[in-house]
Amino acid sequence: MNTGEYTYPRYLAAKKTVDDRALNSRVFQHVQEYLSEEREEGLNILEIATGIGTMIPRILSLPLTGKVYYHAIDLSPDNIASAREYLAGWAAENCEDFRPFGDNQFKLKVNAAEITVKLECADIFSWIADNMNLRQWDLLIANAFLDLIDLNRQLPLLADLLKPAGAFYFTINFDGETIFQPVSDPAFEKKLMDAYHKTMDARITAGMPSGDSRTGRHLFTALPAAGFDILSAGSSDWIVFPKAGKYEAEEGYFLHFIVQTVTGALQESSVIDSGRLQQWGSERHQQIKNGQLTYIAHQLDFYGERNK
Ligand SMILES: C[S@@+](CC[C@H](N)C(=O)[O-])C[C@H]1O[C@@H](n2cnc3c(N)ncnc32)[C@H](O)[C@@H]1O
Repeated sequence: MNTGEYTYPRYLAAKKTVDDRALNSRVFQHVQEYLSEEREEGLNILEIATGIGTMIPRILSLPLTGKVYYHAIDLSPDNIASAREYLAGWAAENCEDFRPFGDNQFKLKVNAAEITVKLECADIFSWIADNMNLRQWDLLIANAFLDLIDLNRQLPLLADLLKPAGAFYFTINFDGETIFQPVSDPAFEKKLMDAYHKTMDARITAGMPSGDSRTGRHLFTALPAAGFDILSAGSSDWIVFPKAGKYEAEEGYFLHFIVQTVTGALQESSVIDSGRLQQWGSERHQQIKNGQLTYIAHQLDFYGERNK
């Protein structure tokens, strides 16, 4: 992704408060109930594409007991380095005990739970192919990731990670609507958004299709077909707007990054004039600086169990 002067780890850090508001609380309630079940043999959680690890404290802040093992994987070494710092910063304020050990591993105590976290830099699909970790996980998590993969080909590989009655929590799955306001030229804005969404549908990674601008709705059929029973689903739209001309926390940075992502994706477009695109980007960046831009992305969250 060409994101110019913006850095991905800082974008993921800025995205945290946007996700906090967006994550569907009814769907999350199922995760909380599932994790509160008694398990003599401990709890094994795998998070794929963890980024800088912002999901880890959300889960570890739940009332967990006993032994918990949380393994978080991401492709990017920069993200994993940031995840190390992010976790240490959170633990310093929220854990009784926090001890790094071995290679990117950490022991921590939160309330009644003895937790081990392992961060690992890997391509999840190579990791699955190389490891004997199939069918050992109680909970599989992916936040803002499934819209980057080829659902038909790659979702079944993820289902194989779970124990027979294991659960999944797949969140912030993009679903076809990107809205920027105000709109000065509705026809151009529509053309631009349609073209942007088409770049998601045409994305190729390692020579294979990877991504879909309507992943959210497609998951209603793709998840059961891959071996996942959906027990709960709900919307998790990102909604960012200024209050009295100011954005919360680092959300101005988040918005700049999103605008840069749209213009970067369409740089080589044959349907969008490059001068007009540049003008659109400059106007949107200026609206963020002025505290005038509102941004909405439609997304869906899912919770359920492995179905065989
Ligand atoms: C949109 S970010 C979401 C990160 C994090 N889950 C969050 O919501 O903050 C997508 C993440 O997927 C990671 N990623 C992409 N392909 C991957 C792969 N094949 N294996 C592991 N991680 C991958 C990227 O490095 C990036 O951190």
